[in-house]
Amino acid sequence: MKSLRYVGLELRNRVTDGDLIMPDQDLAAQVNHSGGSYPVVAGWGLINSLGDRFMDLGLTRTAYIITDENVMNLYGRNVQRALQSRDIPAHCVIIPAGETSKSFELAQAIYSWLADLKAERGHTIISVGGGVAGDLGGFIAATYLRGMAWVQVPTSMAAMVDASIGGKVAINLPQAKNLVGSFYQPKGVFADVQSLSTLGKRELSEGWAEAIKHGFILDASLVDVFEEHEEALMDVEPEIATEVIRRSMAIKADVVSQDERETLGIRIMLNYGHTIGHALESSTEYGQFFHGEGVSVGMMGAASMAQEMGLHSRELVERQRHLLERFNLPTAAKGVNVDDILKGMSLDKKVQGGSKRWVMLEEVGRSVVRTDVPEELVEKTVRELVS
Ligand code: GLY
Repeated sequence: MKSLRYVGLELRNRVTDGDLIMPDQDLAAQVNHSGGSYPVVAGWGLINSLGDRFMDLGLTRTAYIITDENVMNLYGRNVQRALQSRDIPAHCVIIPAGETSKSFELAQAIYSWLADLKAERGHTIISVGGGVAGDLGGFIAATYLRGMAWVQVPTSMAAMVDASIGGKVAINLPQAKNLVGSFYQPKGVFADVQSLSTLGKRELSEGWAEAIKHGFILDASLVDVFEEHEEALMDVEPEIATEVIRRSMAIKADVVSQDERETLGIRIMLNYGHTIGHALESSTEYGQFFHGEGVSVGMMGAASMAQEMGLHSRELVERQRHLLERFNLPTAAKGVNVDDILKGMSLDKKVQGGSKRWVMLEEVGRSVVRTDVPEELVEKTVRELVS
């Protein structure tokens, strides 16, 4: 059994070859991976300086923005303008909003668009939006011409603190989400926290679920911050929201730097709450739960099982429940069909050699993977969540 204890945010200042580079105030972390490294940056109003960021990274050639119909007018155009202000040509393709856009059909249409525009390997794909623009844009970048440069500009909370970092790219099959994809790392992740101020409360809450999850699995002090600043965070107050997002991004960056391809038992920790969460999403045909809401219910399921197995106290379960509820997140899934959830869990990508791997807490800020969770306990817990 493996456990990872998160040891702090020491990635904030960049030092290379013994020379101190001027610290970038907006830099949350640097992700290190087998092919190099990239910056993960969050700032208020950051999109306006994106042209400079691209110049810094040497991404001076034509860019292709992939964004959805909701995000285009709010942020897609601003990204385009910011690049053009530094003489970087930028084309846009607008995809329908929603998970159904992660399809082979749409990928093929975008390949044709790129071919018509004579896209080259030295050009850049930019995903502007939430997880869908990220996953699809990354999938295109990974495959067109066997790989183009790719930059993530996440505009949803969940994409900022989770999906945009770590290079998981994918499209969906009718059987399940994200079945076809790859690990393909971007050249940089640039989050403009101001874009969260146009999100609805429900979208905000589901995004905070992923950040709260980061605290419970790896950083107890982050859980304290959530408990102390719930109101300011739900109001997206610039200073505290940006700081907490940077901290959460740094946790994700640290984890994926240690376990790029989820083979070392470290990255899997990020899937806390996801086994039941994904099954809830798929068993309700993606129509009832936002991803973060499913994760929230899944975190409660995992905590309840861990408590029954003697890993931690009831007090921890209640502390987690209380915090999730303060962020308006669901902690149960009343009325959902148990068999559908159990069936949904059988397609979980964490299954290895037939056994399910469950991420569980040992205490706040410390998590483990367990493969010995009795099926009867899983079934009992799922029944309790839906009754
Ligand atoms: N969202 C989990 C991961 O990127 O590994």
